[in-house]
Amino acid sequence: MKAIEIRNKYLKFFEEHGHKIIPSSPLIPENDPSVLFTTAGMQPLVPYLLGKKHPEGTRLTDYQKCLRTNDIDEVGDNRHLTYFEMLGNWSLGDYFKEESIAMSYEFLTKELEIPAEKISVTCFAGDEDCPRDTVTAECWKKAGIPEERIYYFGKDDNWWIAGETGPCGPDTEMFYDTGKPKCSEKCNPSCGCGKYVEIWNNVFMEYFKDKDGHYTKLKQHNVDTGLGLERMAMLLQGKQTPFEIEIFSPIMEKLEELSEVDDIASRRIVAEHLRASMMIILDGGIPSNVDRGYILRRLIRRMVRHLRKLQIDLNKLSELIDLNIDILKEMYPELEKNKDRIKNVILEEKDKFGKTLERGEREFNKIITKLQNEKQDTISGQDLFTLYETYGFPPEVTKDLATEKGYKIDAEKFNELFKEHQEKSRMGSEHKFKGGLAGNSEIETKYHTATHLLNAALKLIVNKDIHQKGSNITEERMRFDFNCDHKLTDEEKQKVEEQVNKWIQEGLDVKCEEMSKEDAIKSGAECMFIEKYPDIVTVYSIGNISKELCGGPHVKNTSELGIFKIKKEEASSAGVRRIKAILC
Ligand code: SER
Repeated sequence: MKAIEIRNKYLKFFEEHGHKIIPSSPLIPENDPSVLFTTAGMQPLVPYLLGKKHPEGTRLTDYQKCLRTNDIDEVGDNRHLTYFEMLGNWSLGDYFKEESIAMSYEFLTKELEIPAEKISVTCFAGDEDCPRDTVTAECWKKAGIPEERIYYFGKDDNWWIAGETGPCGPDTEMFYDTGKPKCSEKCNPSCGCGKYVEIWNNVFMEYFKDKDGHYTKLKQHNVDTGLGLERMAMLLQGKQTPFEIEIFSPIMEKLEELSEVDDIASRRIVAEHLRASMMIILDGGIPSNVDRGYILRRLIRRMVRHLRKLQIDLNKLSELIDLNIDILKEMYPELEKNKDRIKNVILEEKDKFGKTLERGEREFNKIITKLQNEKQDTISGQDLFTLYETYGFPPEVTKDLATEKGYKIDAEKFNELFKEHQEKSRMGSEHKFKGGLAGNSEIETKYHTATHLLNAALKLIVNKDIHQKGSNITEERMRFDFNCDHKLTDEEKQKVEEQVNKWIQEGLDVKCEEMSKEDAIKSGAECMFIEKYPDIVTVYSIGNISKELCGGPHVKNTSELGIFKIKKEEASSAGVRRIKAILC
């Protein structure tokens, strides 16, 4: 079964079981700078798992574009991917363990026709925070899994949380038995020998973990499930690696045909990183030296290095992108529409890197000679940093080169230097950020409040998923950046303007409250840079139309603002629009 068929079957099955199909959120989280990329289907749903009402109801399903970057260095082996698609279904305070397990079992055995005897499951063994999940085990027995294929494990295996704090809970994982012999007497789904492959994870999300490590019960019990599409396609197609399924096989074959050197790991790295880079760019990513942009840069540069290693002419990259779009367009039709943009970004980065690559390799060779003379075997953090900063060599590129020659790298020292460097540039940008908001004159105060009104009006009139991406206020005007996939029409601009003026005329009170950051998020208050706020935050509400975490200052009542006028609406960056407006 092709991956897209599995995706369609999944969505249809859950739709038939009362779920609303919701669209995949972008790979780049829209209002959550605390994570670089969307790493799980539940991530965009956090407010709803915490109790906010979802407009589509309490049963949802989707396919979610995900990127996990902690294993970049492992790509090249027979299983790791950075980009993958996660199929998911959610109960937001609706069904719980029994129905969730019954549906998963039915989907696996009836829809995907996986023989029941190939499925093993694991449940949470229990500890001081949460009891042993015998309820889940009973549900599995009722569904048809015999006791000998039900295992219990602790928090390391059967507890799921995204990051350090947030909604979480015990989970139950489903495993596919590949039929390989047991690695030992004790062989089981958690041993990692490859006999059992994890295929689905149902999290019973009814806890919240705070920053002190305490668990409290959420207002509602939720179910959050995730099924990795590429891995399921691999198993159903009887393949040993995801690189053999239809999403990768044509590009793998093309790379084999073009390369002068037979190196399967390099071919996998090129195929995987090319797909991941294309998906990041599709959702607005641009290569840079910080955060998301840096990950994208690493992926493209590592891919270029492996193209060179395979002795493939870098001019062939354009053709490889075309081929990848042909392979993937059935799953992601928007790739085709954005072909030129995606191509330009990748080729430009390749050209930039191409120029430094030779110089960097020369510098690298000098470092190796130095190490040989000194009889050392580790490239120092400082040398790694110089290669990174001056020659654009991400440390993993250096690591690849070093490994090939039998040398190690001091990644820890590099990370320290890199952090210092990031801290310096962050301080620079925070300073700029403050510059935009620090003014306290009467007119600037008015502009702050008008900014909240504009944000609310854009959500109401243009798209509820619009969020602030930036703001800058001077005595003369306000400037507001927001995510939006189109140029606002004249009608939209007029309606937004009218809406803001209506709220001004209504004379809405502006209320300021102090609360914990956690309560603020739970209450649905919007914020732009959550990690930049202290534990106790101020939340400004305007009537019942806007609620935002904000340092202020604000006017007391919207009637103080005068008349609001949009002066300009323009593009700011990919997927981000900018409005300049005045009060008069
Ligand atoms: N959030 C869980 C996971 O990512 C289930 O979707 O595995």
